[in-house]
Formats: sequence, structure tokens, C-alpha cells
Amino acid sequence: MLKRTQTCGQPRISDVGQTVILTGWVNSYRDHGNLVFIDLRDRTGLVQLVFDPEKYPQIHKTARSLRCEWVIGARGAVRPRGDGMENPRLVTGQIEVAVEELEIFNQSKTPPFEIDSDVNVGEELRLQYRYIDLRRPGMLNRLAVRHRVAKIARDYYDSNGFWEIETPMLGKSTPEGARDFLVPSRLYKGSFYALPQSPQLFKQILMVSNVDRYFQIVRCFRDEDPRADRQAEFTQIDVEMSFVQADDVMKINEALIVRVFKEVLGLEIPTPIRQMTYAQAIEEYGIDRPDLRFDMRLKTITDIAAASTFQVFVNTVKKGGIVKGLCVPGGAKYSRSDIEVGLTQFITELGAKGLAWFKVAPDEATGAVSLKSNIAKFFTPEQQKQLIERFGAKSDDLILMVADQSAIVNKVLAPLRVKLGKDMGLCDPSKFEFVWVIDFPLLEWNADENRFDSLHHPFTAPVPEDLHKLDTDPGNIRSQAYDLVVNGSEIGGGSVRIHNMETQAKIFDLLKITRQQAMDRFGFFLKALEYGAPPHGGIAFGLDRMVMILTGTDNIRDVIAFPKTQRGQCLLTEAPSGVDQAQLDELNLKVQKHLHQLEDKQEKQ
Ligand code: AMO
Ligand code: AMP
Repeated sequence: MLKRTQTCGQPRISDVGQTVILTGWVNSYRDHGNLVFIDLRDRTGLVQLVFDPEKYPQIHKTARSLRCEWVIGARGAVRPRGDGMENPRLVTGQIEVAVEELEIFNQSKTPPFEIDSDVNVGEELRLQYRYIDLRRPGMLNRLAVRHRVAKIARDYYDSNGFWEIETPMLGKSTPEGARDFLVPSRLYKGSFYALPQSPQLFKQILMVSNVDRYFQIVRCFRDEDPRADRQAEFTQIDVEMSFVQADDVMKINEALIVRVFKEVLGLEIPTPIRQMTYAQAIEEYGIDRPDLRFDMRLKTITDIAAASTFQVFVNTVKKGGIVKGLCVPGGAKYSRSDIEVGLTQFITELGAKGLAWFKVAPDEATGAVSLKSNIAKFFTPEQQKQLIERFGAKSDDLILMVADQSAIVNKVLAPLRVKLGKDMGLCDPSKFEFVWVIDFPLLEWNADENRFDSLHHPFTAPVPEDLHKLDTDPGNIRSQAYDLVVNGSEIGGGSVRIHNMETQAKIFDLLKITRQQAMDRFGFFLKALEYGAPPHGGIAFGLDRMVMILTGTDNIRDVIAFPKTQRGQCLLTEAPSGVDQAQLDELNLKVQKHLHQLEDKQEKQ
């Protein structure tokens, strides 16, 4: 068997005259009658092979039988390409290899799509034939970046005294927010393990055990509907530290991010990464993961709106709502139908009732800027002046406003801002703007259940100065939680934890988790807190999301070798699938109907 002496991406002009052996896949094939040219591909790149009928007629004949994706080995001499034949797009483009020996390792069926093109191939087909899809250089590059990030993380934490410790995949169901994936137990029939949503409680217990600094690159499972940046099965770089405060955790972990961006992209991220309170993020960007690549901040105009005669605004404010908006620089170029149809549809689909607008134009008479729109008449000249000032609006700008309850206003304005930033070309895709969002509320009111819910998880510590509000004003307690956000994506989050049983018990009370329920669900953990738990805190980064940012994709499936579809299926293996009756019997499980198979059958009919 021919064993390679170099990889396909390696030979250079300096290798001319050397004999090399190369192995790989036939990427493309050109038969010029007398000469056959093959581009041979491996993980490292492409190299041109030439087959000459004069010198090696038998090999030339075999070469003519080669087809795309056949697997071959070739021995030959490196020689310069003829004048004008160089290919500047290939690193090996100055040379070619004149083949003297050829071995066909394997043939291939015609692949269902071309590897060597950027032509958009349907994702279903790509996932079904993932082994072929992964051969595409873009896909391999993303796997390489993912490997590199994991390696940098391991080295970084190791050199800072962190130990990588595995925590169980088969655990106890302790609902953390999302739905658990359950695994039936054979030995304890009727009982179930749950796959971990995160190693949260185990890593805290490791702190009680004096591990001091822990990390793990770990799979987490949440039975939620997948989205563009969310998979049911995803990977965290999970970290926990003892004897620390929030700043310590942020400092040591942002240094990892700095290192990753330096080593993978060659970029210097300025440190310390800036911090923004949750309150400021919501006020100015409408969301707790602001995209700071461009400005266009939201402005509240409830006061001006309430004083106007525009009934939509006045009535909304009377009902306790707010009016907020943004000013799009140069946005006056949007036509009335762009605004009243396109943009309005965008926000009504997100839950808004309407979109009010002004174009900013110079007044013909005075030359001063003034507001033009169907609702301008409801605002006095003085109010218009106030609006122009509030938004910092200039001639040719577009002001857009939404009136509603504050949760809805923010929910629709945040994505509208991002959309407009992109549409207007304000958002430089080569920029990376990091921010720590801090001072989250500890709890959020759940009106449906008439109780508070944890914004992060119930083990997050309150800010000590706010502790006195536990009994009187729990909705206004800030937590010691922090999220790391880049370009509008949350790539990590964590907190300082409660390490004292009394505070933990109070939080459970607010969450309306009874002592009994708490003991049933987290008893093992609460018990551990009573045996000398040190102050501790940690963070988890979403590895998939980090790689998405580094490789510039907005599809999480592009950074996972074998991902699930939006409907939670693995198209390669066809999981999930039915199982044998014998397997069910062994687990003492009865399946009423195999609904999924039924659906498939119905779809096929
Ligand atoms: P959290 O739930 O915020 O925190 O998760 C941490 C980070 O993991 C990523 N992430 C996801 N990535 C892809 N698909 C998903 N479904 C998904 N869910 C989360 C995000 C997120 O920032 N135990 C805590 C961490 C801690 O407190 O230390 C936790 O799991 O990038
Ligand atoms: P109407 O009074 O329904 O004709 O609405 C007049 C203008 O106000 C239209 O441009 C609507 O899109 C806009 N509008 C209606 N409801 C709201 C709202 N809640 N917030 C902002 N603008 C609105």
C-alpha cells in the first residue's frame, strides 16, 4: 500500500525534483486527451496530479477510469507547472505531481451533491449524507476551529490549576427550567435517570469537596425545541471556583476568551471587557444580550407621548404602558409602504400592535428640521422639538416608535433594532463587541403561577446589599449573575452561588418550592451545603455558540459534526426510532402507540 510522505496541502515550489507519495480523494478530473489532470484532496488542501500517456501508458489508462470521490494514492515527482498554468488560489498552485505509480484504494458512488462547490445544497440531504458534507472544506474548517477552542480551553484551565472532572450523564431529574430527557432504569423498574441539563449541582458539590477549581467540556441535554442557535444536545465549557467573588470569576474566564480570539482569529480583545447592568441593557437595547457593534439605542418617550393628542399613545400610557423608539440614521429612504407594510409586519408578528413613525426633514420655510408623518399633527411644535432632541435626530433620519406594556415594547424593538442595523449596513460583520451583562434581577414574577421564578437558577446568590429585600421587595433584588455577550449572542453565563442553607431555604420559599419538595428534588445538594460549603461561583460557556461566532455562521448545526434537525431528528442514523418489544419488556415499559412511526406512515401515504 502506498503510504503518504506528504499531505496534499504541503508540496511547494521548493520541493521540485522530490518524489512524494500523496493520498486522498479525487476532487476533480480533467481529461485533455493526452494528459489527465486530477485535483487530489485531503484535509489539508488540494494538489494537482498529472498523468502522462507517453511515459506511463498503463497508469494513464487507469487514471482515465478515476471518478470523483474515489480514494487513491499516487507516487510521483514534484515539478513546476508550465508557464501561465499556475493557480494562485491554491497554496500548491505553483507545482504539480507527475504520477509514476497509482493505487486505487476504493471507488465511490456518485455523491448526491458536489463537495467542491459553494452551491447551496438542501440541509436535509447534507445531514443524511453527513460523511460527504463534512468533507467540504468549510465544514472541516469549522470542526478544526472547534477542536482548537477545546484544546486552548483545556490548556488554559490546566495551567491555572483547574482539574477536568467528569460528572454523571445518568443523573437525578432536578428540573432546572427546561424539560429533562429521561432514561428508564432496568434494575429499578419504573424509575428513571435524567440526562444532565448542566453539571450545576455536581460542580457545586465538587467545591464542597475541596476540588477548588473545576472545569469540564461537557455535553448538556435540554428537551426544548431546537432553534438557529439552540440544540437539545449541546456542549458547555463548564467552570466552578472556590473562595471567589463575581469579579474573580469574570476576570479569569474572560482571559480564556481573549486567548481563544487571539489564537484562532489573531484578534486582540481589549480587557477588561466592559460591563453593563441588566437595567441599562433593557433600557437602551431592549434585551439582555445587546449587539454593541452599532449604536442606534432605544429612547423612552413615554413623557412626551403622554402629553400629545395621539390617542394610541395617550391610552397606552394611561393603561400603564410605555412608548419607546429608535432613530435610524438616514432611514428616511424607507418608503411609506416599507414602513407601514414591511417593518410593521415584522413587529406585529413579534406581538406589537402597530408601528408609529416620523421622517425627519428640513422645514421648507425655516430650514430647521421637523417631523413628517401621518401622526405629526398630534404633536405640538414644542413636543416635536423635544422628540428630535430625545432621539438626537437629524435630517433624513427615520424615527420608529412602539407603544405597549414594557415587556412587549422591548421584545419587539430589540430585534427591530438589529434588523435595521443590518439593513442599513451599520453592523460590521468583522467586529466583535463583548460585554458582561451584570446585576440581573434574582427573580422574575410569574403571573400565571402566582410566584417568583429564578432568572438564572435557584442556586444563584443575591447581591448582599439587596438581601434585606428578601422579605419586603423580592422583585427588586439583584443577583450576582453575569452573562458574557458578543454581537448579540449569549456565549456564557454564570453566577456566585448561595453557600448557606438559610438563604437557600428563603429562595425556595419565594419560588414556592416547599421544604418537602426541595428535599425531594435537591435534598442531596442541600445536605452537602450543611457540611462546610466554601463561598464559590462559576460560569459555563456555550462551546457551540463560541465556534459559531468564531466561524461566522448563524446555524448551530454547522459547528456540530452530527447535529439534530429542527425537529430533533438525526437524519444520518434516523434517531429517535422505535425499539424491540423485548427491550421494552425488560424495562417494564408499555408504549401505547408508536406515534412517530404512525406519523411517518401517514406522511408517506
Ligand atoms: P446556561 O443555561 O446559561 O447556564 O448555559 C450556559 C451557556 O450555554 C449555552 N447554551 C446553549 N447552547 C446551545 N444550545 C442550547 N440549548 C443552549 N443552552 C445554553 C449558552 C449559555 O450561555 N449551569 C449554568 C451555568 C452556571 O451557572 O455556571 C448554565 O447551564 O451559550
Ligand atoms: P390607527 O389609529 O390604528 O390608524 O394607527 C395610527 C398609526 O399608529 C399607525 O401608523 C399604526 O401603525 C400606529 N400604531 C397603532 N398602534 C400602535 C402602537 N401600539 N404603537 C405604535 N404605533 C401604533
